[in-house]
Amino acid sequence: MNRTRLLRELFDEFFRAQNRSLKLYDDIVQFISTRRVVSKTQGDGTTVIDVTKYKKVVQLLRKGYPPEYITSKAYFYGYSFWVKPGVYIPNPFTEKLVDYVLTEARRVLAQGQPVTILDIGTGSGAVALSVVKELGEGGLRRVEVIATDKSAQAIEVARYNARRLGVAGSVAFYVADVAFIEGNAILPRYQNVIIASNKPYLPKDVFTRLPRHVKLQGKLALLRSRDFDSKFKAYVNLLRNKGYRVTTVVETFRNRKPVSAKVVVRRYNVDYEA
Ligand SMILES: C[S@@+](CC[C@H](N)C(=O)[O-])C[C@H]1O[C@@H](n2cnc3c(N)ncnc32)[C@H](O)[C@@H]1O
Repeated sequence: MNRTRLLRELFDEFFRAQNRSLKLYDDIVQFISTRRVVSKTQGDGTTVIDVTKYKKVVQLLRKGYPPEYITSKAYFYGYSFWVKPGVYIPNPFTEKLVDYVLTEARRVLAQGQPVTILDIGTGSGAVALSVVKELGEGGLRRVEVIATDKSAQAIEVARYNARRLGVAGSVAFYVADVAFIEGNAILPRYQNVIIASNKPYLPKDVFTRLPRHVKLQGKLALLRSRDFDSKFKAYVNLLRNKGYRVTTVVETFRNRKPVSAKVVVRRYNVDYEA
């Protein structure tokens, strides 16, 4: 099979599997392509397709495997993030959450006050790191950014993403249960605190119906948990009782009947306490 036919088949398979992003398609093509050096003195040669890799990729796409887990690359808020199975693939819907956090952070900073931003359940670090990148070095002078996840694997990925994005020193990452480490609450440096969370939100009935490849993101990342919700509430109350001014920005799901992924609507709750 020649290169054009291979690519056409790959293209068809990619879109048949309901993938919609041309950018991800380009990443897949790049992933299966290898550069062959023809001559060191005459330039770097041509691009060819690694057919073994190609066959494997087509098979994975046919099974509905997410392209982001094939290339280990996902996009969020204009930045690229390393991801791997078991760690949530950042979703473009969550970019709105970043907008809310940035608006709130800028509002507090404009009043001449410093602020702590806490991303609970950070996964690949998408929310915390996008906030850091958007605020830029100048904007970060009076901002503390903390990111937590119960999954040590997620924190490892998030730390790596921080290095890739050149902001390793700007976020304090913790493996923590919501924001508790061995039962002790993480205490923010500043009195104004913005807590952001794209928490695990899927009800059990939706989760059990998910295709296997979606479940690769992990139960911990997807399945709604009472334990998470009650610890989250307890943490917010603890901070408020200690005199912190806490704003929570939480991405949630509203489930309409009949239950289906298509009728699940994302909602943002912004709960501000002056
Ligand atoms: C829906 S994912 C969101 C990931 C990331 N914030 C994003 O939007 O791309 C939920 C995340 O919460 C984490 N998580 C689940 N339970 C947790 C807990 N008790 N404490 C901290 N993180 C938790 C999961 O590991 C997962 O990374």
